[in-house]
Amino acid sequence: MSTTAQLQPRQLHPTFVGELTGVDLRQAHDPADLGEIKALLDRYAVLVVRDQPFADEEQAAFARRLDGELVTKVGRSVIDAAARLKEPGLTDISNLDENDRIMDPADRRRMYSLGNRLWHSDSSFQSPPARYSMLSAKAVPDSGGETEYADMRAAYDALPDALKAQIEDLRAFHSIIYSRSTIGFTEFSDAERAQFPGAEQPLVRVHPGSGRKSVYVASHASHVIGWPVPDGRLLLRELMALATLPQFVHRHKWKVGDFVIWDNRCTMHRGLPFDETTQRRDLRRVTTIDQ
Ligand code: OGA
Ligand code: MN
Repeated sequence: MSTTAQLQPRQLHPTFVGELTGVDLRQAHDPADLGEIKALLDRYAVLVVRDQPFADEEQAAFARRLDGELVTKVGRSVIDAAARLKEPGLTDISNLDENDRIMDPADRRRMYSLGNRLWHSDSSFQSPPARYSMLSAKAVPDSGGETEYADMRAAYDALPDALKAQIEDLRAFHSIIYSRSTIGFTEFSDAERAQFPGAEQPLVRVHPGSGRKSVYVASHASHVIGWPVPDGRLLLRELMALATLPQFVHRHKWKVGDFVIWDNRCTMHRGLPFDETTQRRDLRRVTTIDQ
């Protein structure tokens, strides 16, 4: 890439998701080029970049160039026990064990990772949460295992005015202990519970790059601060349902070499099921901190 590169994404969904072909992000070093990618993210919220043969350390280096500090080992102990990936900036989003074999269905890491099937925004249970997440596809199943994205800006815009006014100044408590418990994963050790205290987040965020407002909810959102838990939880469920209506959702079907960057401030995502006993799905993620 050079400063003369004019990136012209193809838009894959009526409100968001741009697709780029013919670029090599390993060569993107020029601040102007990196700024252009961020400007595209401000607009599209999700960028699908095809054919990026990143080595793990190249992927981490690209993320640092684009946006600074990475989320590293902190908060990742459950899935990183006996890590398969050696690069500290990478999170393993695969169904493979440390010997590169398909995981035992009962593996605790798999049980924990099943939480990724719930709509969420990465690290919303931490403060500061995640800004950009970037997934690189090394192996993909023949069918299933897509990732869905929801545009929380478009969802906000479509809320009734009364609901917009009601949530404007509200805050929610986000916890990964809570979100995992909703699918029956409760086996956190005392040390893990101490490591994941949860975080308060606003229900409405203004995106600094686009000036647009978003609903900021996730499966991690447990209750509304200052409200009785059942009232707040019902409001959060309603917002989750509204934010993930079909018209706000794009389904990404993975190809090997795909590199997808999304902005966690204004999108949610979730993984879809696939045949985990016969199919290898090897996705690797780097995440930057929203600070
Ligand atoms: C993630 C995630 C979903 C998937 O990488 O943060 O939630 O489809 N992934 O694997
Ligand atoms: Mn995620």
